[in-house]
Amino acid sequence: MAVQSHLKINGNFKGRDILSLDQFTTKDIAKLLEVTKNMKKIACGAEPCDILKGNIVALIFYEPSSRTFGSFGAAVKQLGGQTIEIQDPQHFSSVAKGETLEDTIRVFEAYSDAIVIRHPTAGTAQKAAEAAFFVPIINAGDGIGEHPTQALLDVATIHEKHNRLDNLTGVIAGDLLNGRTVHSLMRALSLYKNNTLYLLSPNELKLSKSDYQKFEKAGLKLHEIDNDKDIPKNADFWYWTRVQKERFQDISDYEKVKNRFVVTVDLMKNKAGKDTIILHPLPRVGEIATDVDSDPRAVYLKSQIRNGHYVRMALMALVLGKIK
Ligand code: NCD
Repeated sequence: MAVQSHLKINGNFKGRDILSLDQFTTKDIAKLLEVTKNMKKIACGAEPCDILKGNIVALIFYEPSSRTFGSFGAAVKQLGGQTIEIQDPQHFSSVAKGETLEDTIRVFEAYSDAIVIRHPTAGTAQKAAEAAFFVPIINAGDGIGEHPTQALLDVATIHEKHNRLDNLTGVIAGDLLNGRTVHSLMRALSLYKNNTLYLLSPNELKLSKSDYQKFEKAGLKLHEIDNDKDIPKNADFWYWTRVQKERFQDISDYEKVKNRFVVTVDLMKNKAGKDTIILHPLPRVGEIATDVDSDPRAVYLKSQIRNGHYVRMALMALVLGKIK
C-alpha cells in the first residue's frame, strides 16, 4: 500500500507490503516461524482452518513460476480463501493492449484483499506498492532484485534442521550476481550473528561489489571461492542455484558459465557432513545430479518445498490481519 511501502514490519504484519527482507527484524522472522509451525499442522490435516474465508488474493505473474505460484495459491485456499490467478498478463490481460502496471494494480486491488506479484524487472514490486491505494503487495520475485518469501522458506528450512539462524556456516553456489533468492537469503542471514558464507561462483557471476560490501558491513563473514575444492567440510547448509539464463543478453555467455559447479554424490562424500543440508530454490537444470535426491540431507524436493506452502500460509494470515 502506497503509504506503507518502505515500512519495517516491527511486529505488525497487518496490511504491510512484503517487498524486501530489509523490512524484517529477527523478531519478525521468529514470529513468522512460530506461526508457520501451526500452519504446518493445519496443512497436514490435524486442525482444519478457514481464517481466510471471504478473502480474495490476486496472483499476477509476469514471469513463469511453478512453486511460488502454486504454493501461494495452495496457501490461500488451504485457509479457506480464494485466488484470482493471472499468469502471463502480457498476453492474457489488458497489459497486451498497453495497460500500465499502475492501472493493472489499481484494477486488481478493487477485486482483492492482497496482490502477489512477480515481474522480470527489479523494483517492480516496489512500484506496484506505490501504485496500490488499498491492498498490500507481496513481492514474489522482481527480476534480479529480491524474492523475500523464498528466503523466508529457506530460513525456515535451515531453522528446522539446525534450530538456530546464527553461528552457521553455509555455502551459496551458482549465479550470485543475478539470483534474487540469493540476495534475499543473504539479507536474512545478515540479521543474525556470526554467520559465515562461502560464495562459490564463476568469476562472471560473483555477487556485485556493492552487495558484497553491504553484506560484509552488515556482519556476514564472506569468502569468495571459485573451485569446489575450497568448499569447507561439514558446513551447516549448501544453497545451490541455477545460472539465470533469462538474464543473459548473449546466450553464448550463458553456455560458458552454466553448470560450472554440480553437486554430485562424490562431492557430498568429500565435503558434506552428516548434518549438512542441501537446499535449492528450484528449478534445477543440471546443477544437482539426480542421484543425490535420495540422500536424506537433500531437502530441496522435500521439506524445503513443503515449507514454502506453510510459510506462505503464515505470511498471508499475518498480512491479512487474521493472526496478530
Ligand atoms: C526462483 C525464482 O524464480 O526466483 N525459483 C523460485 O521462485 N522458487 C529461482 C529460479 O528461477 O532460479
